[in-house]
Amino acid sequence: MGQKQYKFNQQHAIITGGSSGIGKAVAKLLVQEGANLSIIARNKAKLDQARTELQALKINSQQSILALAADVAKEEEITQAIKNAIAKLGHPHILITSAGIAIPGYFMEITRAVFNRTMEVNYFGTLYAIRAVLPAMEREGKGNIVLISSGAGLIGLYGYSAYSPSKFALRGLAESLRGELKPKGIKVSIVYPPDTDTPQLVAENKTKPPETKAITATAETWSPEGVAQAIIKGIVTSQFAIAPGLEMTLLDRLHSILRPVLNWYFDKIVEKVKN
Ligand SMILES: NC(=O)c1ccc[n+]([C@@H]2O[C@H](COP(=O)([O-])OP(=O)(O)OC[C@H]3O[C@@H](n4cnc5c(N)ncnc54)[C@H](OP(=O)(O)O)[C@@H]3O)[C@@H](O)[C@H]2O)c1
Repeated sequence: MGQKQYKFNQQHAIITGGSSGIGKAVAKLLVQEGANLSIIARNKAKLDQARTELQALKINSQQSILALAADVAKEEEITQAIKNAIAKLGHPHILITSAGIAIPGYFMEITRAVFNRTMEVNYFGTLYAIRAVLPAMEREGKGNIVLISSGAGLIGLYGYSAYSPSKFALRGLAESLRGELKPKGIKVSIVYPPDTDTPQLVAENKTKPPETKAITATAETWSPEGVAQAIIKGIVTSQFAIAPGLEMTLLDRLHSILRPVLNWYFDKIVEKVKN
């Protein structure tokens, strides 16, 4: 019997939003495959709690887990946090940008501040983190960058006029970067998670218009662990688009073709809710 080969042994993974939900679920799988981790988020207590949970999953005593407090929307903060992570744990083999927010509502009821903040966190927060790891990845000629978008980054959904554009923007960024970074040995992936049972989804449900609730109720809700497994598989098999499950796979491959049918179907749902 040979010894188990750990997929990410001694690799350094940096995960923004690693203290909760999808980011934390991916962190758990990575630590069980031998990775060193740097998790980044704002709330120190949640970070410490996540770090404790991750420490308990280490498979060897050489593994290190750092918890760094930073707001991804503040370029200086996230850049400094990533610099500190690289100084302590070495080459960043993997960057996963899971930090994100979603505040649904009717277009004119969403404040301008929310539109700005959503773009700052979801889009620019991702962009800043990528710019912070790239010099090191380019120097070594290797790395994996994994952006977390959403099914709402493939089709615009009723009630998501602040969130969907920020996730579409990530798709544009990932598609543009993929070809540019490939010759440098750096792989880019983009993830389109379906609705996933996390604190973010609980918070979203508080402000979702009834029409949005009825539309999203038509799709299956995933566990963060299920999404995390799809992400790990996507990294290992070098998939560009990681679309967990059949619904997201069809949406990823066929969204333009499906759009008229989906528009018709969603309009019917909205009509029913309004009557
Ligand atoms: N849950 C879903 O149904 C779903 C579906 C599709 C896509 N997604 C996407 O998946 C990603 C993870 O979402 P989730 O559902 O796992 O949410 P979550 O459980 O609420 O976790 C979000 C994480 O991001 C961190 N975060 C939020 N704002 C931040 C900021 N400005 N700076 C640094 N960290 C920040 C949070 O920690 P702090 O608050 O302490 O900073 C937390 O660690 C998001 O990008 C989300 O849009 C989620």
